[in-house]
Amino acid sequence: MKEKRAIDFSAYKPGTIKRRIDLRLLDTGMPDCNAYYRHLSADPAEIDLLLNALTINVSRFFRNPLVFEILKEQILPTLIDTSPPGGLRIWCAGCARGEEAYSIAILLKEISPAVAATVPAFILATDIDRSALTFAASASYRDEALTEVKKAVLEKYFIAENNGYRLTEEIRSMVTFAWHDLATSQPPKEGIFSNYHLILCRNTLIYFKPELGERTMEFLSGVLADGGCLVLGEAEAVPSRLHRDLREAIPRTRIFRKEVA
Ligand SMILES: C[S@@+](CC[C@H](N)C(=O)[O-])C[C@H]1O[C@@H](n2cnc3c(N)ncnc32)[C@H](O)[C@@H]1O
Repeated sequence: MKEKRAIDFSAYKPGTIKRRIDLRLLDTGMPDCNAYYRHLSADPAEIDLLLNALTINVSRFFRNPLVFEILKEQILPTLIDTSPPGGLRIWCAGCARGEEAYSIAILLKEISPAVAATVPAFILATDIDRSALTFAASASYRDEALTEVKKAVLEKYFIAENNGYRLTEEIRSMVTFAWHDLATSQPPKEGIFSNYHLILCRNTLIYFKPELGERTMEFLSGVLADGGCLVLGEAEAVPSRLHRDLREAIPRTRIFRKEVA
């Protein structure tokens, strides 16, 4: 993968990598890793299928609805009130097929259309998987991704189409998608270099070995504005050496606020 797709999985948890390779062995009917390696070397299409298996794009709109409720009722209104004239800068890192970034765009519209019109928001959504980003840009989703979407929201921001729903242009235009590898601890070129008011990085660091996970979290804390929030996945935690900088804004929500220096 490093050679063919410039993605280095060596600092990912080996157990996850092995389970995903095993799935490809099953799918291709290869008896063992050596046979699979020969198949992989001979068929470039298999490289993308393996990449797809390794990146695990599972997501859905408003995944963990309580987190989105708190973002809507408490976190975003505070960030909007204190936002600088340039508006809010939001980054979804490990955005999969865009569900999370578009959920935030919908929240901003739902909080108050008037506020949304006066406080600009730049939402950058990045991922390492180019096929997921292409999917995200198309903004068409099947029912599985929409199970947590309330009927009123579905009717307001989605258009029914043959096999599911497509987001309205109003919401699509609020999100910029770009390729970015979090493991490099470099900010995405498409964004600004620091001072994000809200960063969502959920269910992505969980696949990294602890050392890379901690390094990445430190980097994310560094590009967060003072008073800004980092949202992690349910099974992800801030390492103890960062507890002084990042405090859980509301207990057990995995929403951490960066302390004002
Ligand atoms: C399970 S999804 C999480 C999606 C969404 N954040 C959520 O919580 O529903 C994990 C995503 O992280 C992406 N990913 C994995 N390693 C990455 C890396 N080094 N840089 C950026 N994205 C990465 C995968 O491609 C995948 O789309």
